[in-house]
Amino acid sequence: MMTYQNLLLNIHDRILTITINRPDKLNALNRKTIQEIGDAVQRADQNIDIDGIIITGAGEKSFVAGADISEFQNCTNEEAKTMSADGHKVFRSIETCSKPVVAAVNGFALGGGCELAMSCHLRIASSKAKFGQPEVNLGLIPGYGGTQRLVQLIGKGKALELLMTADMIGAEDAHRLGLVNKITEPGELLNEAAAMLGKIRKVSPIAVDGIVKTVNAYFDKNVDGLAFEVETFGECFGTVDFTEGVSAFMEKRKPEFVRS
Ligand code: COA
Repeated sequence: MMTYQNLLLNIHDRILTITINRPDKLNALNRKTIQEIGDAVQRADQNIDIDGIIITGAGEKSFVAGADISEFQNCTNEEAKTMSADGHKVFRSIETCSKPVVAAVNGFALGGGCELAMSCHLRIASSKAKFGQPEVNLGLIPGYGGTQRLVQLIGKGKALELLMTADMIGAEDAHRLGLVNKITEPGELLNEAAAMLGKIRKVSPIAVDGIVKTVNAYFDKNVDGLAFEVETFGECFGTVDFTEGVSAFMEKRKPEFVRS
């Protein structure tokens, strides 16, 4: 397994946990860390020994407290655009990953941290988690997808409120708004994330990949989502998973999907 400067990787029971490991900086995302996350996710996507991915932060205090603000100083407009575009590529690779990706939000998820969590397919929050997009305090807007994915997840009105006020919200509010799927006690966070992946592991991996691609198509302005669904639905027919799933139903047994 690869080793990284700012990430800890652990595979257990075919689930990869990526822990962002700069706790003395509240796991702030410097360029190196973002690049490492992109590399780790890309490798996991292609690794037949991995069924799902959990992304979390080291320490008790923070998931990720944002992009590393110390790298912002003396950045030209063009350099800032490159930084944003590079981050977008990595976050998009998480959003489009063919394996399920769950954010286990253990503390502060601010700015780029909230954006990282939102690029994951699902979010589980510790009761101590805090979410926010405080970029306006820095004279900035979010640069890693926050203006788009927050609207997608919680709607324009609440998204504008959080983005314009820089308010920080707790796990309960985040859950009520649909920003997180589930809240757990801090000690149960990783178990709950693994349990969520465990449920997904029981169903067809080909269909799960199709779900992710087709739901993402809804948000792609260049794609007709319903037409994409017609195509993807049709492509499911005749796959090994389809054959197994339908046969198992007809034979009144549980399906066993093969992973490769
Ligand atoms: N970028 C760089 N460093 C960061 C950081 C960030 N986004 N967030 C925290 N840190 C660093 C602090 O500078 C500090 O480093 P130091 O010990 O070398 O001085 C360390 O992490 C601990 O943070 P600190 O601010 O002392 O902790 P706190 O408990 O007092 O406050 C926060 C916690 C999250 C409220 C505060 O750190 C904060 O506001 N962070 C920035 C959040 C933000 O604006 N994110 C969006 C960036 S686009």
